[in-house]
Amino acid sequence: MADNDNSVLIAIIENFSIEVTNEGKRDYIIEATPLGLIRDGKFIRGGDTIAIPPKKVEPATKADIEKIYNESIDIPEQFVFSTLSSNKDIKIPVDGNKFFNKHISVIGSTGSGKSHTVATIIQKAVNAKDGQFSLNNSHIIIFDIHSEYKASFPDANVINIDNLILPYWLLNNEELEEILLDTGERDNYNQSSIFRTLVTENKKKHNPTNEKIFYDTPVFFDINEIVYAINNYKNETENAKCSGRFMINDGTYNLLPDGKTNESLGIKLTNEQRISKYFEEEYTFFPTKAQSITKGDYADGTLDKFSIRLQSKVSDKRLDFLFGKKSKIRSFEETLQKLMGFCTGDFRNVTVIDLSGIPFEVLSITVSLISRMIFEYGYYYKRLRCKKNPKEKINNDVPILLVYEEAHKYVPRSELTKYRASQKAIERIAKEGRKYGVTLLLASQRPSEISETIFSQCSNFIAMRLTNPNDQGYVKKLLPDTLGNLIDKLPSLRAGEALLIGEAVILPSVVQIDECELPPSSSDIPYWDLWKEEWRIINLSEIKDEWYE
Ligand SMILES: Nc1ncnc2c1ncn2[C@@H]1O[C@H](COP(=O)(O)OP(=O)(O)O)[C@@H](O)[C@H]1O
Ligand SMILES: [Mg+2]
Repeated sequence: MADNDNSVLIAIIENFSIEVTNEGKRDYIIEATPLGLIRDGKFIRGGDTIAIPPKKVEPATKADIEKIYNESIDIPEQFVFSTLSSNKDIKIPVDGNKFFNKHISVIGSTGSGKSHTVATIIQKAVNAKDGQFSLNNSHIIIFDIHSEYKASFPDANVINIDNLILPYWLLNNEELEEILLDTGERDNYNQSSIFRTLVTENKKKHNPTNEKIFYDTPVFFDINEIVYAINNYKNETENAKCSGRFMINDGTYNLLPDGKTNESLGIKLTNEQRISKYFEEEYTFFPTKAQSITKGDYADGTLDKFSIRLQSKVSDKRLDFLFGKKSKIRSFEETLQKLMGFCTGDFRNVTVIDLSGIPFEVLSITVSLISRMIFEYGYYYKRLRCKKNPKEKINNDVPILLVYEEAHKYVPRSELTKYRASQKAIERIAKEGRKYGVTLLLASQRPSEISETIFSQCSNFIAMRLTNPNDQGYVKKLLPDTLGNLIDKLPSLRAGEALLIGEAVILPSVVQIDECELPPSSSDIPYWDLWKEEWRIINLSEIKDEWYE
């Protein structure tokens, strides 16, 4: 709607009708929602004032629409991964800085095209270059729960259960206790207080030059030595006549011939000596059957269940990536290098962390530990940069995007302890990550089931086909009132079509996401094709071997 040559109001037609008056005159009535003005050739969002009546009303031309999108963002800032759904010739740029430096959410029912969208976005980000070099400075870590993304990123640093090494000693106290202590027993004072003391003392033992060691300090400790110590406490006996003399049966002394003890029997140990001795091996103790031998302080049975749990976790083959031999020698730097694709001579833009083989009970702490390490990388890198240059404006010149497929599995709206670790780590990134150059891309089919804290921190949304009314309601809250009816389109979007909303795009728009170069692999099994084929013989004993391995 033009009022003069310099000012044009752009509006979306919502409805139109023709009214015939009594005199037989036709009135053409258009109901339209104003979007903004083109003033002096430039589109400005909002503002609906034009001189009434307008001079001219006409459908926007392709050139007008292109102008709105194209001129809204300076060329170097433009990041393009979609076209306008109603006219595929019109590219829809987003502001690449505004897009990546805040959290992004990709939502849609299964099959709506989320995984393809994630692949398209990352492929384009990795290929964008401001110069002549082979690797750009993009850094993306994908938490891939269905093993989909290896196919899309053949050059990626792929980490899976076979090569993942996550040292248990990098776990923080909550993560460590979540896996090793029984939740139900967490209030059991003995269990957790002994564990904490032992871990702290063992960290001191293995890091003698480090003066500031606390329970939570991320330095090496030997988990097997903790197991020894717990078992020694559990089985400990003490000379009843002289406390502080422990009845370790290591062959250096014998009980009196009458089975009694005298005051000099047993090994005299101060509390410190006792702890460091108990780290060395698992001892046998003289039984309390002999007279004048009593149970040790913690040998009242309260540690029995804990000891069993601890041993079974530490020796569980499925948890080898945490507690195995390699975890003991893997350094902090190596762990971070591997996770960030930063190994010397082997730099990778994309790291795919294939979570499909991670046992469910440790999925949350695995995701939590990795997320936390990346967040802390950002935090300390910023600190270092600001120390070196107090005027530093860019907190992190190697910013990272963390991608969570099926985000509702790690950060659900749920109080259950099994999600607590990953929830906490990701919520922290959602709240503070931006400042340190760590942002999130969350893909989910159930936006209404994602933690609200996280969802509310997202600034850009790619809403694909959504059929569930609760989930639609979630998206509706994101839209300005004037565009509320765009929501009606959500259930009928085709695969790859999306409603693009947020700070990075000039207008909420229905777009078609570009097809990705290499698609993610689908985990769909072609039942019908397979069933129609001839009977196949499978080797069950081979499966058994794999099972028992
Ligand atoms: N941008 C697109 N253009 C065309 N087809 C697409 C696009 N994105 C997805 N599709 C099709 O939709 C199907 C489902 O996509 P997928 O990304 O696996 O969905 P989701 O991750 O939401 O379950 C795929 O088989 C793919 O061929
Ligand atoms: Mg998917």
